Amino acid sequence: MPHFSQLLTQSPLLETVIRSAQIVARTDVSVMLTGETGTGKDLMAQAIHYASPRAQRPFIAINCAALPETLVESELFGHKRGAFTGATDDRLGHIRSAHGGTLFLDEIGELPLATQAKLLRFLESGDIIPVGESNPIKVDARVIAATHQDLSQLVRESRFREDLLYRLQVVPMDMPSLRERSGDIDMLLNRFLLHFSGEHQLPLPKPSQEARSALRRHGWPGNVRELRNLCERLVVLFHGRSVELGNLPAEIMRSAPKPSSSTSGHVRGFSLPEEGIDLEWLESDIIRQALDRSRGNKSRAARLLGITRDTLLYRLKKFDLA
Ligand SMILES: Nc1ncnc2c1ncn2[C@@H]1O[C@H](COP(=O)(O)OP(=O)(O)OP(=O)(O)O)[C@@H](O)[C@H]1O
Ligand SMILES: [Mg+2]
Repeated sequence: MPHFSQLLTQSPLLETVIRSAQIVARTDVSVMLTGETGTGKDLMAQAIHYASPRAQRPFIAINCAALPETLVESELFGHKRGAFTGATDDRLGHIRSAHGGTLFLDEIGELPLATQAKLLRFLESGDIIPVGESNPIKVDARVIAATHQDLSQLVRESRFREDLLYRLQVVPMDMPSLRERSGDIDMLLNRFLLHFSGEHQLPLPKPSQEARSALRRHGWPGNVRELRNLCERLVVLFHGRSVELGNLPAEIMRSAPKPSSSTSGHVRGFSLPEEGIDLEWLESDIIRQALDRSRGNKSRAARLLGITRDTLLYRLKKFDLA
């Protein structure tokens, strides 16, 4: 069960957020978690629930971005049998499923405006009206919301209700990015490498000083998730061996100080491990990483790789990645 102690940090910035979360956990007030992707909003929401008096009751996590707009109301508030075509049974809905416990509304910025109005009503009155019902039903669910978006900006664009924002952020909590707590990088690196070498039953890889300093300098757009995933990859690929700067993903190598002789902006100095590499595998893996990073946008992926889009398309075919 996730607990505050799983939020590893030595940063005063995050420690302050954790301390206020520990206080808030004992109450029923709504919490608004903001922060970039991978900063630990999910982990924090669960830690609050399991440290609260509601710990023995359900923790229901809903990703608002994944709810189809036509079904979002009945998914959240439930419906009565026959309320609409296809409603063949009564449906409890997520809010009632969370009765006595905590409702975690992730990606709250994606909720349609009409549903926002109904959610506000629930937060203010403590009752809901399932689709097709006429009488309100009392529900006791504590709400924690999260978003990586700037909700004030959405309010300015009339895509998010200002009254709902104020109602939700009784206690706003902003999870600092890994960039803002780069002092945590070394500690997290060691902890995650240990964790995955235990999980995979493989000896620890040993990052060189040069590799470590590139990791400290990297911007970590994917925050802790990005670092954690990298650690698993390093354990799998470099267990029991040293990890040199050249073994790190290209965008991290780029964070390393450039050798003074460098004339281009490109990464230099990939060092071939003694036991050799599988070049085809490495190439297709790096292409896959570029596509992940660019979320499938081929032009952007090609730019990340320093090749033309045509060359990328050719290689995608070659590696059967198209
Ligand atoms: N401080 C931390 N210590 C240890 N692990 C952490 C920490 N913060 C995040 N993690 C881990 O990083 C990963 C991503 O965290 P999480 O899913 O909570 O992020 P998120 O903010 O919800 O991201 P998204 O906005 O993409 O949903 C998880 O595996 C989580 O356990
Ligand atoms: Mg999340």
